[in-house]
Amino acid sequence: MEIKIEKNVSESSIKADVLILPFTEEYTGTVYSKLDEGLQGLIRRIVETKEFTGKHGELTLIHLLKGSVEKALLVGLGKAAEITAEKLRRAGGKALKYLKGLGAATAALSTAIFKEQALLHGAQHNTAFYFIEGGLLSLYDYKRYKKPEPQMNKRKELKSLTLLDADGESSGGFSKWLDIVIPATAYARDLVNTPSADMTPTILGETAKSLSGRRVKVKILDADDAKKEGMWSYLSVSKGSTEPPRFIVIEYKGGSKGAPVAINGKSITFDSGGLSLKPADGMEKMKYDMAGGAAALGIIKAVSELSLPVNLVAILPATENMPGGSATRPGDVVTAITGKTIEILNTDAEGRLVLADAMGYAIKHYKPAAVIDLATLTGACSIALGNEAIAMMGNNEPLMDNLKKAAAETYERVWQMPLYEEYKDYLKSDIADIKNIGGRTGGLVTAAYFLSEFAGDTPWVHLDIASTAFADKDKPYICKGATGIGVRLIVNFLSDYK
Ligand code: BES
Ligand code: MN
Ligand code: ZN
Repeated sequence: MEIKIEKNVSESSIKADVLILPFTEEYTGTVYSKLDEGLQGLIRRIVETKEFTGKHGELTLIHLLKGSVEKALLVGLGKAAEITAEKLRRAGGKALKYLKGLGAATAALSTAIFKEQALLHGAQHNTAFYFIEGGLLSLYDYKRYKKPEPQMNKRKELKSLTLLDADGESSGGFSKWLDIVIPATAYARDLVNTPSADMTPTILGETAKSLSGRRVKVKILDADDAKKEGMWSYLSVSKGSTEPPRFIVIEYKGGSKGAPVAINGKSITFDSGGLSLKPADGMEKMKYDMAGGAAALGIIKAVSELSLPVNLVAILPATENMPGGSATRPGDVVTAITGKTIEILNTDAEGRLVLADAMGYAIKHYKPAAVIDLATLTGACSIALGNEAIAMMGNNEPLMDNLKKAAAETYERVWQMPLYEEYKDYLKSDIADIKNIGGRTGGLVTAAYFLSEFAGDTPWVHLDIASTAFADKDKPYICKGATGIGVRLIVNFLSDYK
């Protein structure tokens, strides 16, 4: 959808299918008085009779018999003093999703109320930005396998949103982020929503290849290449599948001199658990187990389109985890690229096995300034945090502080969990250097501790997105299914990266 900015057009003269009018609960009648004059006080009447109160998320559609638009959508933002960036996103999400359902093709957004009252304090962007961000995110849906609606009753697509920006405050960089980062989020959502049969490691590799460009180089290692590198930990996960693994490496050179930031995205295109087979109930969700890799691709796409002055390397150790006849057996021992031996006691703890080699590969070939994991790593993540936050663990506080800042700005929230040295004991193996499971307790932190053993001194942060990568139900600006989490967070983080 296109965002247009109009500096000299008023609510009374704009031409659009629907005019969006945001309200706070304290609406006194002044903001839209000019428009309301032409409507013979209709808005005032609706507010005075409390038919519409401005409560957060409230929507009322009114049909106008006069004026340049046919309909207006009143949108509640809640109490002025309680407005946050996230509340604006949610209100914008609700409003635009509603307009989409209505079949409107063009909409205009009044910013008059944002001007009259300074609604947001200390935020990175202005009020309209967040409203539109939520709106754009909410319009996503996954249609690949649905028959297109018959032409006759086809609703119009929402094609444009015009911002009535009387002061011209929103021009400049305003829409660049939205034009690039929201589609990159949708791109990641699409990849994750795609069923595993149509999102094999090979297809994921081809998808990565299509991001190649002047600043983006894509290299794909097959099983033989991975063997030469000694990535037996990664390869052990692919043994039970007939789909060949693909170890995908993407370099982005943004022109800065420093060592790159490595983004390791867990890319298990289907996680059956392997011989430590998962229960049938809910197994279909394991097509989402490449959400970390999809986010990494979305990040590369956005960062390259924004031409951010950073160097990146994204690593996607892609494979299926299947229980075929040649699958890794519980009790087997493998050697990772770093030379460390791992006793595999549960083949369903495969994410850490592929990430250990991704980390080793990144450190060996790129000496990265920082490593960021994005991984749907543990079921224990949702036991600890529900679906509300990414679990964050790492060995470098400044790096984690910067991620906390980006998380607060994007509402892709992170919550730091500890990496106590005592967890080392949980991972002691009788016969190898380390084992891949840590026992019944602390599943979230022992998984991260396992990875810390491969990070060594490299600044590293692990983001467990197992509980946030997909939604079980629709939310104001997230539709059921893949959320694309990590894209907005990391692009925001990289925008300030020094
Ligand atoms: N991909 C799963 C984690 C997961 C579970 C993500 C549910 C999203 C929703 C991961 O590979 C896994 O199976 N982890 C095991 C680890 C255990 C065997 C130590 C788990 O969490 O049960
Ligand atoms: Mn698993
Ligand atoms: Zn998994």
